[in-house]
Amino acid sequence: MATDTVRMGVIGTGGMGSGHCSWMHETPEAELTCVCDIDPEVAQEASRKFGVPAFTSATDLLRSRLVDAVIIATPHYFHPPIAIEAFKRRIHVLSEKPIAVSVKAADKMIAAAEKSGCVFGVMYQMRALGRMQLAKKIVEEGRLGEIYRTSLVVGWYRSQAYYNSGGWRATWTGEGGGVLINQAPHFLDLFAWLGGLPVRLTGNTRTRIHDIEVEDEAFALLEYANGAHGYLYASTTEVPGHEQIEICGDRGKLMLQGSTIRVWENKQPIREHSREAKEMWGSPGSDEITLDIPAGQGKHQEITRNFCRAILYGEPLIAPGAEGIWAVELINALIMAGKTGKPVELPVNRARYERLLASLQATSAGKAKVEARRETDPHYVK
Ligand SMILES: NC(=O)c1ccc[n+]([C@@H]2O[C@H](COP(=O)([O-])OP(=O)(O)OC[C@H]3O[C@@H](n4cnc5c(N)ncnc54)[C@H](O)[C@@H]3O)[C@@H](O)[C@H]2O)c1
Repeated sequence: MATDTVRMGVIGTGGMGSGHCSWMHETPEAELTCVCDIDPEVAQEASRKFGVPAFTSATDLLRSRLVDAVIIATPHYFHPPIAIEAFKRRIHVLSEKPIAVSVKAADKMIAAAEKSGCVFGVMYQMRALGRMQLAKKIVEEGRLGEIYRTSLVVGWYRSQAYYNSGGWRATWTGEGGGVLINQAPHFLDLFAWLGGLPVRLTGNTRTRIHDIEVEDEAFALLEYANGAHGYLYASTTEVPGHEQIEICGDRGKLMLQGSTIRVWENKQPIREHSREAKEMWGSPGSDEITLDIPAGQGKHQEITRNFCRAILYGEPLIAPGAEGIWAVELINALIMAGKTGKPVELPVNRARYERLLASLQATSAGKAKVEARRETDPHYVK
């Protein structure tokens, strides 16, 4: 691209999309040139607030020649069709999370991106956090050795008022899942990014405290190709909020909890010690290592800027869109395990999941009570 600014459009100017518009000026490489929302009043309000033209159809925005790239911040089901249309027009895409509701839809999106040669990113801003960047580096350098065990616990509380705030939320037809598809994806992504994807999963989902038709709690046992095991728990029913990832290997252990990262290196690899030690009660021992945590804050703006720099200068993406499928694999596998009561192999069988999703959509009762509200999560506007 010849210029040093990417002309950006934001599609879906609700809670998240209006947030993206309001902090676009913080990205020197981006210029907000237009917005789109299917609701004319919301589109007009965004147009007034941000001083750019508004469209009520994504197709019209993509045809307008006003954009080089778009951020898609609609409900999840619309991410793949809008992205595919953008890629066909050689427009770069930064999709909100999750990239899609089903792995089949995600496959199509990734194939369209590859065919177009455009940049495809996903808004997994937590990857930009300094401690997550460091964790990734430690795993990639092999400092944990062969992985023996993983665990993920993510509890992000949501009230009934949150669920009532949009007709699409927490319905099979509007959202395609509950905590797994909406709150957990950030941590499912980090978990898969650091520990890889399991090959098999046994688990369950249930609706514990909310008046919704989808799950507010999910739990699973994971099996990896090398024989390692893992545990996963996600809910919107827990206070105070909890975020924890553990990756334990032959040479060391990594623990991310809340805003802390701790890493231990074993004085001798476990397998080697077990084989060679003569003492009955011996242990390899371990040292907690001092860490130099890089500066990343995990803000949406860091992902937007990196995405623009990938378009302009070929900078490697922090969160490539194609990797967005990892969380979708975990989400689909766990919903399928919960609904069938059987272990599920990954990669998820595409046709089987489409059939299951269609049957869940057919049972969807929709929302009895909606008090429409589009508010950006105040945690993001501090
Ligand atoms: N990265 C993050 O931290 C983060 C945080 C919150 C939400 N999200 C994601 O952002 C997306 C939107 O969530 P939200 O909370 O902003 O929802 P929201 O309901 O507040 O906003 C969605 C907006 O999209 C509009 N819309 C619906 N269909 C459309 C279409 N086909 N074309 C154009 N506009 C359309 C709606 O009118 C609405 O204004 C979801 O995918 C969600 O997972 C990401």
